Amino acid sequence: MRNETEALASLFEAAADVRVRAHAPYSNFFVGAAILDEEGRIHVGCNVENAAYPQGTCAEAGAISAMVAAGGRRILAAAIVGGPADGDEIQCPPCGGCRQRLREFAGEMTSVHLRDAVGTVTSLPLGELLPLSFGPESLERDRP
Ligand code: THU
Repeated sequence: MRNETEALASLFEAAADVRVRAHAPYSNFFVGAAILDEEGRIHVGCNVENAAYPQGTCAEAGAISAMVAAGGRRILAAAIVGGPADGDEIQCPPCGGCRQRLREFAGEMTSVHLRDAVGTVTSLPLGELLPLSFGPESLERDRP
């Protein structure tokens, strides 16, 4: 059984590996995301921009799609790395839309891990990134 430090290192390694495959010719900002699912599998995604700018997709969205396509339904942790294509990573907090995307498959206590240029890790519960969130439970109704 690997310890938490090793698991987090694997998650960041997966995010950093996929980040270099980003298609971001317009922003030149490369992002990689890795998520750990309920079966202990890691799913990755990078940002994929488009000449029709609004059609671009975020790294987190790609990782979530990969998880769902593989049958995963629960995010236990997420790691995100980003920065200029030819520069160091900077801290890259998920955009507002991606906070909501993560929330679909994660709870308020789920950790989102960020890393800066010098390797300092900031770990935040999703509930802090997206307070008073609207999630799947918000639509639950009592059934007869
Ligand atoms: N980006 C992500 O992939 N994830 C985020 O949470 C923040 C922003 C991407 C979108 C765009 O391709 C580039 O970073 C610059 O905004």
